[in-house]
Amino acid sequence: MKARPRDGLFVFGIFSTMKKTAPIGIFDSGVGGTSIWKEIHQLLPYENTIYLADSANAPYGNRSETEIVSLSIKNTEMLIAMDCKLIVVACNTATTNAIDLLRKNYTIPIIGIEPAIKPAALQTQSKSIGILATKGTLSSALFHKTSKAFTKDISVIEIVGEGLVPLIEKGALNSPELQKLLLEYTAPMVAANIDYLVLGCSHYPYLIPQLKEILPDTVTIIDSGEAVARQTKNMLATLNLLSEEIKTPTLQFYTNAETGTLKFLLHEFKDSIIIQKKEF
Ligand code: DGL
Repeated sequence: MKARPRDGLFVFGIFSTMKKTAPIGIFDSGVGGTSIWKEIHQLLPYENTIYLADSANAPYGNRSETEIVSLSIKNTEMLIAMDCKLIVVACNTATTNAIDLLRKNYTIPIIGIEPAIKPAALQTQSKSIGILATKGTLSSALFHKTSKAFTKDISVIEIVGEGLVPLIEKGALNSPELQKLLLEYTAPMVAANIDYLVLGCSHYPYLIPQLKEILPDTVTIIDSGEAVARQTKNMLATLNLLSEEIKTPTLQFYTNAETGTLKFLLHEFKDSIIIQKKEF
């Protein structure tokens, strides 16, 4: 039987052989998960990290569940081969479609990201919330289960952000095309008087400035980045795998497409990170 985190002492025995200085592995369908990496790096500044941007296969959002699962397996196996101590699936689409299977198949601890429906549903005053996510996330069984559990008396406006990920992958954050799509996608939400907008895709935090321009001030935008970083820290602490070294970490980013957008989105870290193109 394979060891799982819930298997108690047996698992602690297994993970105690892992190095605390081993990197945290993070993957996404592309560049968007860097929004999650930023939260993780801010909370855990001495941890080494390896980020995989599977941009050659982005977007995942319109792919079948079988394809999303097989791409997620490919990324997970690459991070395991690179000796990571924990994996963060920094992609809602991959999490909602593949995380159960990944957790069943691999003993490495795996953290996922899901749309933050619960906090929005608990805090809404207008009893109306909006969710912007990919088709793959909104149609997944895991998303339906969470949504059903927390939004019984609430109206939920679900909108597929069709076309947003390819524009973010190109770095076209201020393009008229993107502006037009955001206006189109937020219109039914504004009409439904939402007071919370949940960003259910790790690419979308890069659109917060543009969304703030469009949405009324009464709308609070939430994403799951900070929660994922906290969960990562807690899981490493529980498994006694937090790095104890206080020194400049190695922060590696690999993409299987051009490096331009990663460089653009991570510009503020340019002197402390390594960005490379690699086949995977
Ligand atoms: N960042 C991915 C997510 O969180 C984008 C999905 C896609 O590639 O379509 O869902």
